[in-house]
Amino acid sequence: MKVFAANWKMNKSPEEARAFFQEFLPLIPLDKNQDQILIFPMALCAESVASAVHPFQSKNLFWGAQNISSEKEGAFTGETSACVLKKMGASFALIGHSERRTLFHESNQFLSLKMKMALQQGLTPMLCLGESLQQRDEGITQTVLQTQLEESLKGVSPSQQVYIAYEPVWAIGTGRVALPEQVRQAHGWIREWLNQHGFSAQTPILYGGSVKPENAKELLMVPDVDGFLVGGASLQAISFAKICGWSV
Ligand code: PGA
Repeated sequence: MKVFAANWKMNKSPEEARAFFQEFLPLIPLDKNQDQILIFPMALCAESVASAVHPFQSKNLFWGAQNISSEKEGAFTGETSACVLKKMGASFALIGHSERRTLFHESNQFLSLKMKMALQQGLTPMLCLGESLQQRDEGITQTVLQTQLEESLKGVSPSQQVYIAYEPVWAIGTGRVALPEQVRQAHGWIREWLNQHGFSAQTPILYGGSVKPENAKELLMVPDVDGFLVGGASLQAISFAKICGWSV
């Protein structure tokens, strides 16, 4: 099984989200396929995405939140509750996307609270990690990834299901995709860490960062690449369907 996840970031109105599904659903042979398709819309589009996805959940099409609060409910102005997302039909939550880490200063310690909240509320968290260009140039990528895993997964039991998305910061939204060899190495380090800490060998590790229809096929052949987290190229139904491997 491969996992193809669309991170729409702060794009699309509820109406545009509905239009995406009208175009996307006829393109994808959900019946014939074991792969998982996950859509991460802006919270404002949750309802329109939930109703588009609902009839297909048994066919491996799910949606999730781009971010959740570390708190369950209460006086937290502007936050999004994992508990309510679950009630609306969400199945996943992105935790620690690099834009959250850099622009909103979310630390590994803070992200571990969000991981636990997602799991408590019955959402599968997809933990995003990756090194900056400076860290890669300094040769400390493996240490950075290990620290992110260790600190963000603190208090998470290895028996719980998590997904991991490896997204080198320098490849996100830049058009500069990581080389297959760099991806293989990073995914290998992550897989090794997960094994050493008792997480399931089936834990999906997705690659993200400038994935496009033109480079998806090659990257999907890299060992330990279980799918993609796609930003820009997931906004158009046709290009996302091509990344998922369907000839459209
Ligand atoms: P990109 O974004 O595909 O536009 O590089 C990936 C991501 O941020 O998840």
